[in-house]
Amino acid sequence: MKKETVIVLDFGGQYNQLIARRVRENGVYCEILPYTTSLEELKEYEPKGIIFTGGPNSVYLEESPHYTADILKLDIPILGICYGAQLMAYMGGGTIAHAPTREYGRVELTVTRPESRLFQEVRQTSVCWMSHTDYISVAPEGFTISASTANCPCAAMEYPEKKLYAVQFHPEVTHTEFGRQILKNFLFEVCGLSGDWKMDSFIEDTVAKLRAQIGDKGVVLGLSGGVDSSVAAALLSRAVGKQLTCVFVDQGLMRKGEGDLVEQTFTGMFDMNFLRINCQEEFLSKLKGVTDPEEKRKIIGTEFFNVFWDEIRARYQDGFFAQGTIYPDRIESGKGDAATIKTHHNMVKPPKDVHFAGIIEPLKDLFKDEVRAVGEKLGLPKELVWRQPFPGPGLGVRVIGEVTAEKVHILQEADAVLRDEVAKSGYEDSLAQFFAVLPGVKSVGVMGDARTYEYVVAIRAVNTDDFMTADWARIPYDLLGRISNRIINEVDQVNRVVYDITSKPPGTVEWE
Ligand code: XMP
Repeated sequence: MKKETVIVLDFGGQYNQLIARRVRENGVYCEILPYTTSLEELKEYEPKGIIFTGGPNSVYLEESPHYTADILKLDIPILGICYGAQLMAYMGGGTIAHAPTREYGRVELTVTRPESRLFQEVRQTSVCWMSHTDYISVAPEGFTISASTANCPCAAMEYPEKKLYAVQFHPEVTHTEFGRQILKNFLFEVCGLSGDWKMDSFIEDTVAKLRAQIGDKGVVLGLSGGVDSSVAAALLSRAVGKQLTCVFVDQGLMRKGEGDLVEQTFTGMFDMNFLRINCQEEFLSKLKGVTDPEEKRKIIGTEFFNVFWDEIRARYQDGFFAQGTIYPDRIESGKGDAATIKTHHNMVKPPKDVHFAGIIEPLKDLFKDEVRAVGEKLGLPKELVWRQPFPGPGLGVRVIGEVTAEKVHILQEADAVLRDEVAKSGYEDSLAQFFAVLPGVKSVGVMGDARTYEYVVAIRAVNTDDFMTADWARIPYDLLGRISNRIINEVDQVNRVVYDITSKPPGTVEWE
């Protein structure tokens, strides 16, 4: 049986991925398609519901994203959001007007049609989130207005017989008080879905599909120790066991103990061939004398692919190549064009002289939180499933200036103390990312009666939702004090610890 699918038709709004996540939170499988998808292609998904997203434009502009009005005649429930609502009105023959001022932010919403399926269990007046200049001034024939705000006479409209619904506000953002309820009502009251899409069925279905696709061939996967490639490895191991080989290139630039954790996890807990290539020396020799951050990144990236592909070229070309691409990697958010592929470290194109039977991306339809849920169900340790983001070039960009084995070691030790103290304090879950940096400068200190001249360690801790902006974390002073004392006492060649109190912007999260 085909799984129940809802299509989010992307007209370029900024919350498109959020809409899809909200749908999936209700146990309904959902995909984002660009508005350039033809009606025929869209029908192949046999969607049980369609959501038109917001978008930045006015429907009357020629360059604005449009769609054939035939979509309204499919007898499939549709919910239009913001621009999507206006588009539905425009397609149905209604009128859109340009307001003199933009309505933005929290606004009081009044439900004027309480019997509406969309507004079941929604209070008559509540707060919603608006962000628009244009509004529906005349609803199309057959539509009834079902909610309004002070400045927006048609904040919601519907044509229940045709299963068409539209809201000018954004139900997907948390500021809309009953937003989740409204989306839930669309899925269950309007579309009549069962909400039975769960991670268990994802694992079973994917394992069966992987087995059928792979047959008796081999699969090779580049394991970085990050969440996505680790979960992909665990899933493939469940599907084909020893037919899977994971290649883990350890550049010697991970945090203390992380390389060993990856090795122990995959050799100890999962059935697969595991190959760890230790190549710190090669990486460091390439980095000798290099101080420019961009050059360091380039060298580390190039060297990584050289080592990896040399190994693959020599041994594993007959079977499949797997990688941990996840859904957001494939979506260019906010461009109304979900088909565009981002260049991203998760998506690697094999060099021209390496040939595979095919590429396998078992997580390509999942969001990060769903990937984590799958990882937990497959029994991956918490440290891997909830691992903080870690830059591809690793500690190479946290040792400022030239990278040497000694500096990497000092940084790993200081960073391990930081992690230990933060974990003990129970403060870990409230930080998005935290780590130590070795700025590479020395300062004067005094220990006992002797003058010292040793390294400074900087501590960085940030809170953020998306890493595009970030605020420095207000870590309690006593915790900072313990971290500083322990680093100076336990890590050789360090005599000073400082705390980075720079937000992003103007700073970045990493120092390089
Ligand atoms: P910045 O420093 O740009 O970091 O504010 C934002 C987030 O991205 C991570 N980061 C990287 N991740 N390769 C990666 O895969 C990189 O080169 C890289 N540089 C930064 C950083 O750790 C933070 O989470």
